[in-house]
Amino acid sequence: MSYLETVHDVYKQAAETPDNQLCCISTPPWNLPDLDVPSIMWDMNYGCGTTVQPRDIPREGPILYIGVGGGLELLQFASLARRPGAVIGVDTVLEMIDICKRNIGIAKASNAWLQDDSIDVRHGDALDLPVGDGEVSLVAQNCLFNVFRDAELRKALSEAHRVLADGGALSLSDPVCDKPIPDALRDDERLRAQCISGAIPLQDYLDLLVETGFGTIEVRARRPYRMLDKRRYDVPENILLESVEIVAYKTPVPADGACIFTGRFAIWTGDAETYNDGLGHHLVRDVPLGVCDKTGAALEALGHPDLFVTDRSWHYAGGGTC
Ligand SMILES: C[S@@+](CC[C@H](N)C(=O)[O-])C[C@H]1O[C@@H](n2cnc3c(N)ncnc32)[C@H](O)[C@@H]1O
Repeated sequence: MSYLETVHDVYKQAAETPDNQLCCISTPPWNLPDLDVPSIMWDMNYGCGTTVQPRDIPREGPILYIGVGGGLELLQFASLARRPGAVIGVDTVLEMIDICKRNIGIAKASNAWLQDDSIDVRHGDALDLPVGDGEVSLVAQNCLFNVFRDAELRKALSEAHRVLADGGALSLSDPVCDKPIPDALRDDERLRAQCISGAIPLQDYLDLLVETGFGTIEVRARRPYRMLDKRRYDVPENILLESVEIVAYKTPVPADGACIFTGRFAIWTGDAETYNDGLGHHLVRDVPLGVCDKTGAALEALGHPDLFVTDRSWHYAGGGTC
């Protein structure tokens, strides 16, 4: 059995027998107003974070959700968008598609706003998306891309990039690791399919996003997800898996490198009420300004005693400057 067949096998089983321990989410998903979520969708929450970022809901153009699971996030996206054709979901596992459709049907009974044309669930592969170039405003995937090996991960990212309109966003939630996972564990197909051993370090993930062509990247959240502890797994030392939430925009990659926001802030504390570095960064005294890593490093390199740049908080919520 190839590892992609193992992935299929694991999620066929997860469709037939809901298992709320399969992906160990460490924070509860959004509980949105005027949305009634069927309990089966909570039980089938196989994500490791959330990709539903209310500030990113597009006013027009579809949201493409890759790897539908029980349908929880499709329903949440549809609830926030509330327009016909807002959400397309794709999955390779027919049993998962059937269950997802059934769950959405259950949700219709208690959500009057949910119409037949709110969510379209189709058969489709992350590695060959059934959507034309530039047709989608937002792509989301939660806890799927980490199961792919390097070549497939690159392909999945380039497919997401291909289908996005210019300026569109890829919202993803995936596990990452604090140190590389040994090959023997990475080659364990079942653990990989269960989102335990396929994770890569966050920096490698960010590099891949930039290589794919995403020019602006925001790390919205980062939190512990699981421990690969040396008493239970074949690892020389404990490896912490973290769940990250990233939004990557299809904007051109600037010549001097992508703008990656990791929650750094620049603060001017000098005598003057404002500080301008002459490169478009305007700081008001004592007021933190979110900066990308590139700008943060450049400001730090000035060595000015009244200019502070905070460490990465890994929690960026917008409003900053590149
Ligand atoms: C870990 S589950 C996550 C489900 C959902 N995103 C959630 O957060 O609950 C992975 C999902 O991806 C689907 N899947 C597996 N391989 C896929 C592929 N190549 N393309 C699209 N979906 C795939 C599985 O059937 C399953 O629904």
